[in-house]
Amino acid sequence: MALNALDRHLALIGFMGAGKTTIAPEVAERLGRRSVEADRTIEGRVQLRIGEFFARRGETEFRVVEAALLRDLLDSGEPAVLDLGGGVLKTPTAREALAHGAFTVALDVDADAAWTRVRGSDRPLAADEAAFRRLHGERAPQYTAAADAVVRSGDVDGVLLAAAGVHHEPGSLDRLGELVPGDGPVGLVADEHVLGLYGDRARSALGDRLASTHPLPRGEAAKRLHEVERLWHELTLDRDGTVVALGGGTTTDVAGFAAATYLRGIAWVAVPTTLVGQVDAAIGGKTGVDTADGKNLAGAFHWPARVIVDDTLLRTLPEQERRNGEAERLKTELLASHPLDARGAAAYKSALCLRDPHDRGVRRWLNLGHTFGHALEAASGFELAHGEAVALGLLAALRLSGRDTAPVEAALDPRPVAVDRDRAWSALQRDKKRAGGAINLVLLGPDGPTVEPRPPDEVRAALDSLIGH
Ligand SMILES: NC(=O)c1ccc[n+]([C@@H]2O[C@H](COP(=O)([O-])OP(=O)(O)OC[C@H]3O[C@@H](n4cnc5c(N)ncnc54)[C@H](O)[C@@H]3O)[C@@H](O)[C@H]2O)c1
Ligand SMILES: [Zn+2]
Repeated sequence: MALNALDRHLALIGFMGAGKTTIAPEVAERLGRRSVEADRTIEGRVQLRIGEFFARRGETEFRVVEAALLRDLLDSGEPAVLDLGGGVLKTPTAREALAHGAFTVALDVDADAAWTRVRGSDRPLAADEAAFRRLHGERAPQYTAAADAVVRSGDVDGVLLAAAGVHHEPGSLDRLGELVPGDGPVGLVADEHVLGLYGDRARSALGDRLASTHPLPRGEAAKRLHEVERLWHELTLDRDGTVVALGGGTTTDVAGFAAATYLRGIAWVAVPTTLVGQVDAAIGGKTGVDTADGKNLAGAFHWPARVIVDDTLLRTLPEQERRNGEAERLKTELLASHPLDARGAAAYKSALCLRDPHDRGVRRWLNLGHTFGHALEAASGFELAHGEAVALGLLAALRLSGRDTAPVEAALDPRPVAVDRDRAWSALQRDKKRAGGAINLVLLGPDGPTVEPRPPDEVRAALDSLIGH
């Protein structure tokens, strides 16, 4: 079974009327991939409509052609989104090829909804309602069994989350034992405060799989190399073990980095317990620690085997921490240019990270507002909360993009901060690699986010507008 669609084909399966063909192009676009509709490609190959092919040459021959096409598609280069026919699982070789060559998502649809959608169409297997319902009853469990993930029909965000290995489910903390992939032992690395709140539930859910527990200090203090070194020393796992990180972004960053380096890299699972973690930090495989020279300066790209999001864990989150997450959610909403809840923001980030796992292109959009935010944080000696700093940074980014700042004001109400202007400006310049004097910023253009050079005096004026007395 595959864990995610990173560098792999994403195959959509499901019964007739599950809406594969409707969402495949949208999923493909969000992932920057091409979308291939198997039935249309077969029609091109055999020069017959599917209905005619069935009538003239029969289903058996169709399945042979279909399985051959599937093998070709799976062998062909660039990862794509494959929209597969409803009967593809009938062929054993096709089932095997899928299991090896793709991350497979089943779109789940009930018989009533499926029949409403397909009745009256020219599909060969949708002529008779009773037969259609019988076939649905037979096949639905087969899709589930063959799939790496099951998503509700029409749920594009659900497909993107699944593709990134993100599992969203209220109460999933109590199912950790089943949801951590594999059956090997687990080293639980947790924020010490979160361990007090949720440690008993996590430990009891992991049951026999729990090998050891490792508390980390709260907050940024955890992101130090000596904490990673302590984990290298304390962990008792071998290569089939898994590190489970329970906590906010600081915990998942450190535990993920420990997993990336312990025995040259073992699997890890993120269980984010802050809103920042659930919409941002736990997704996409960036792990690391701070150094004496600055934040996040040492680390590794190491994609989590799964991200388990239980939003009921946010009930205990302090207001200030919720605001930090709200700033990242709004940042993502501005990038997407339509309203997003936390799950939608997580799906948006998932798609960008799958498109650009190593942060060389579109993933950099996630820095919207952060150039200014980091400068203000540094100038405040890190007294200013990250969320407050990002909220101010978003104001500056919107102003420089020629956009209305009302959405940020309404949601986050950022107030100018009293920090030293020169200190903020020199921090901003240090943070940015300069390209020919101009400063590269993520901005919002008419066709979506862009990375654009802006003259230093303009950038400095935008920064100054965020600073008060
Ligand atoms: N890897 C990435 O892609 C990425 C992206 C964004 C941010 N980050 C990193 O994430 C870190 C910030 O993460 P954060 O904001 O989650 O901070 P955090 O991990 O420090 O958690 C914030 C506070 O909330 C407490 N807490 C956590 N869960 C709780 C819960 N359910 N109930 C009550 N209290 C709880 C913690 O004890 C801590 O005091 C930064 O170091 C940042 O660099 C990483
Ligand atoms: Zn941020």
